[in-house]
Amino acid sequence: MKNVAILLSGRGSNFVALSDSIEEGRIPARIVAVVSNVEGAAGLSRAKERGYQSAYIPSAGRDRETFDREVVKFLDLHQTELVCLAGFMRLLSPYFVSRFPMRILNIHPSLLPAFPGLDAQQQTLDWGCKVAGCTVHLVDDKLDHGPIILQRAVPVKDGDDADSLSSRILKIEHQIYPEALELMCKDRIQVRGRVVEQLD
Ligand code: GRF
Repeated sequence: MKNVAILLSGRGSNFVALSDSIEEGRIPARIVAVVSNVEGAAGLSRAKERGYQSAYIPSAGRDRETFDREVVKFLDLHQTELVCLAGFMRLLSPYFVSRFPMRILNIHPSLLPAFPGLDAQQQTLDWGCKVAGCTVHLVDDKLDHGPIILQRAVPVKDGDDADSLSSRILKIEHQIYPEALELMCKDRIQVRGRVVEQLD
């Protein structure tokens, strides 16, 4: 069993997908802490409804490392081993990343390294791509950059707008994020430089 913490800033649908998979026994993990940097985040209310240890830790107007140290304190209090970023709209400081080396996962709605950063689905459409997708990766010091655990492609259809493409991608995010967390929790991945290999 791995102790997993979730960091989020918004609606929390990826958090719910992870929580469902864990509660259904498909991932050998327990969610020990949920943190939001946004007070009214729907994901935070959903975490409270599910009975998880949850905290709102404000980030606005605060120094990045000061905020990160407070989050790490909360995670340590609950013996966190792995961290899942689930729509967490802040870059982590080197301090935070070094506290959980190769132990932080993120999900991004594009096939990285294409279209890092905000509005990845709109960036995909603006480029005229015929294939979109999503990526679960380990987090390092750079934005949407660390070694890739899983990726899955999604077609771009004629007439798509950011909303229609985003919802098609989101359904696949809800599949690959639990799959990636399962691999991590079962110690079934090996990282060599940028390359992540799956172990049997
Ligand atoms: C998802 O599209 C995820 O890929 C991105 O932020 C969005 C979060 O959605 N990092 P939700 O809060 O999990 O519903």
